Amino acid sequence: MNFKIAVLPGDGIGPEISIVGVNIMSAVCGKFGHKVNYEYAICGADAIDKVGNPFPDSTYQTCKDADAVLFSAVGDPKFDNDPTAKVRPEQGLLAMRKQLGLYANIRPVQTFKCLLHKSPLRMELVEGADFLCIRELTGGMYFGEKYQDNDKAYDTNMYTRPEIERILEVGFEYAAKRNKHLTVVDKANVLASSRLWRQIAQEMAPKHPEVNMDYMYVDNAAMRMIQEPKFFDVIVTENTFGDILTDEGSCISGSMGLLPSASIGENTPVFEPIHGSWPQAKGLNIANPVAQILSVAMLFEYFDLIEEGALIRKAVNASLDENVRTPEIQIEGGAKYGTKEVGEWIVDYINRQ
Ligand code: IPM
Ligand code: MN
Repeated sequence: MNFKIAVLPGDGIGPEISIVGVNIMSAVCGKFGHKVNYEYAICGADAIDKVGNPFPDSTYQTCKDADAVLFSAVGDPKFDNDPTAKVRPEQGLLAMRKQLGLYANIRPVQTFKCLLHKSPLRMELVEGADFLCIRELTGGMYFGEKYQDNDKAYDTNMYTRPEIERILEVGFEYAAKRNKHLTVVDKANVLASSRLWRQIAQEMAPKHPEVNMDYMYVDNAAMRMIQEPKFFDVIVTENTFGDILTDEGSCISGSMGLLPSASIGENTPVFEPIHGSWPQAKGLNIANPVAQILSVAMLFEYFDLIEEGALIRKAVNASLDENVRTPEIQIEGGAKYGTKEVGEWIVDYINRQ
């Protein structure tokens, strides 16, 4: 394949892990005879500082013209405690999702055998936990009508039938490819929007007889996820619930720095770590690049390049097994590896295969 990749390093630790992601991409392309070209573009706080817009049109064009986007992170504390800020880095991320029509966010939660003890949950609960959260990404409250004055504010949680159908379809598809268990997470006992989700899920279920579908209220799902994470195979849910549940899910594996995600839909797909920009760690060479590296694996797998993805996963597992790890998951007294060194080790491993 001849890849054209848009690279959006963004803010905080973004640029450091982005370099690692690109190096892994290049190494795997070299190994398998793919060509790859990178186009770099600005986003987030970096783009606000440079051009006053967290997702400028030039960045949109670069993404649109690419086969895939390798995204890192956006966010900067200087905006966090300023409720009056007119533009925010996060708006860039939302604009990218909306403008590229990326309605499905696929967030796998998995564990790594050698890191089970790092999970805040008991080992026997998390061992073997392996599920996918499919989060609706371009609708609901994040994009609905908003209002704010000094005394009143609201966000509207609106979903239309086509929006619900297409994301549920993604849920059924993934469940059919995995262990055939789809859990629709909603709040249908209270919210009208959730009741429509449930109604449409009921209509669609007979068309997917191989999938065993159930429903769960989001409050209950939040509890079940830490009580019995192995219950889940594929979860499908709306934007806000998915945002919250996937942060919860991400800590099951022991570090947020391990989990990748894919955002897919109408236009160029985006592959990104689920962690944020961790501004406090910027430039310190301590951020875990594994989530970004596994995002590259998801990128290859999206294009049905399964062996390429598998090689990256094998290399990551080998690095973890050999204690080539960033500080937050390193064993006591283990060798010191930074973002860069972990990346170099994994590139080297790939080259040696
Ligand atoms: C995420 C992030 C974003 C979201 C923020 C940065 C807007 O938390 O990708 O989960 O809430 O969607
Ligand atoms: Mn989030």
